[in-house]
Amino acid sequence: MIKLKIAELLTSDQFLQEVEVNGWVRAFRSNRFIAVNDGSTINNLQCVIDFENTNEEILKRINIGAAIKVVGTLKESVGSQQSVEVEVKSIEILGDANPEEVKLTILSPKRHSLEKLREQAHLRIRTNTFGAVMRVRSKLSFAVHSYFQKNNFHYVNTPIITGSDAEGAGEMFKVTSFDLENPPKNEDGSIDYKKDFFGKETNLTVSGQLEAETYALGLGQVYTFGPTFRAENSNTSRHLAEFWMIEPEVAFCDLDGNMDLAEDFIKYVVKYVLEHCKDDLEFLDKRHEEEEKSKPQAERSEMSLLKKLEFVTENNFKRVSYTEAIDILKNSKPNKKKKFKYPIEDWGTDLQSEHERFLVEKHFKCPVILFDYPANIKAFYMRLNEDGKTVRAMDILFPGIGEIVGGSQREERLDVLKEKMKALDIDEEELWWYLDTRKFGTCVHSGFGLGFERLVLFVTGMTNIRDVIPFPRTPQNAEF
Ligand code: 4AD
Ligand code: MG
Repeated sequence: MIKLKIAELLTSDQFLQEVEVNGWVRAFRSNRFIAVNDGSTINNLQCVIDFENTNEEILKRINIGAAIKVVGTLKESVGSQQSVEVEVKSIEILGDANPEEVKLTILSPKRHSLEKLREQAHLRIRTNTFGAVMRVRSKLSFAVHSYFQKNNFHYVNTPIITGSDAEGAGEMFKVTSFDLENPPKNEDGSIDYKKDFFGKETNLTVSGQLEAETYALGLGQVYTFGPTFRAENSNTSRHLAEFWMIEPEVAFCDLDGNMDLAEDFIKYVVKYVLEHCKDDLEFLDKRHEEEEKSKPQAERSEMSLLKKLEFVTENNFKRVSYTEAIDILKNSKPNKKKKFKYPIEDWGTDLQSEHERFLVEKHFKCPVILFDYPANIKAFYMRLNEDGKTVRAMDILFPGIGEIVGGSQREERLDVLKEKMKALDIDEEELWWYLDTRKFGTCVHSGFGLGFERLVLFVTGMTNIRDVIPFPRTPQNAEF
């Protein structure tokens, strides 16, 4: 007897073989046809049961959601819906599902809202939508490793607990083993972190970049792919408090090389899932189309999901300097008609997502790489340009998403870096190890961070970032 996953059975031609299938009931009709799904594919396997010779009690327990084991014969299907089916010889109910409860939770034939399903994150994976999203997510993460490994990058695991604040934004979760009710104090009443577990203040990392830089300056090309944490109170459809980030870092590479790498990388992973997730993407494409129909005409996207993905792999990203972008925005219709919530007046202001989306969705109508941002709106480690006021930063903006990548060429000159840190009041002693890399054979180097969930959001056409991570963590929400 062969025990195969449904994904394998559906493309098998081993007809008349005896097979065993384990899965969950998706539908049971005419007391005869059971649609079984085992998570290996979005497609169900039809198992045909001889109800006249099956125990009544068993038949009653074939409910949506129940876990079953079926043994039977693989046959070419007579129905037009599927190519193969299993003629059931024996069926065993492994785990019952109460039909009433199922209806109340998630598996009702009527579609439940995505919001409702978020409260059932442990069960939503039984739906087609989340099954598809999570399979695509899995394939995408494999594609990430595949790209970098093929291109001679080394995978580096940077620490999750850290003593430094890479982004200098101060949005960190503290890590301590103190009794919070009664921490040891200094004479002046402040908390005595010398007595804490690590002998200093520590927090969950917001980025592995600084550590990745130290490894790039020895291993040449590295990448990280791990969880990062931000305690920013952003309750948006694009922000998570715990998200996964991919951060390549490359020695002897300038900003142009960095932009080339990011573009090539994104195209590779999108192409990879287009090739390896056909069934799931076709389903998500239809779901996306349905969702678009419910939006007002002006907000609908011009392309289907699959078209959008193909578009990204086939077209060059538009590279535009911050200064050019500000000119475009200043003279744009929405700015002149005071339609932006944050009107663009002067050079030097940070771009809001409304501006990013205008550039990508209305003006250029393609992914955009903005570069050379004002120094004072970007992090301390970015390389200062000759003009003394802009830095070699780049952000990649995507339709429907906004910023998907943030990166830069790094300031490799010790004196300039120290001056920058002083101006921003960043403690040199805390980052002594980072500064050391600029003393022992420093070199031009660059890297970027890609928010993995924003990539999954783009590829699956979902609209809320909470629906593309298995267990979302957001302000006021850490259930499960
Ligand atoms: O632009 P960010 O803050 O850049 C860094 O952290 C750099 N250290 C990266 C580097 O150069 N190595 O974050 C990078 C990306 C963003 O472009 C966005 O895609 C994602 O991380 N991101 C978030 N994704 C989900 N939820 C959040 N709260 C996010 N914050 C950033
Ligand atoms: Mg950023």
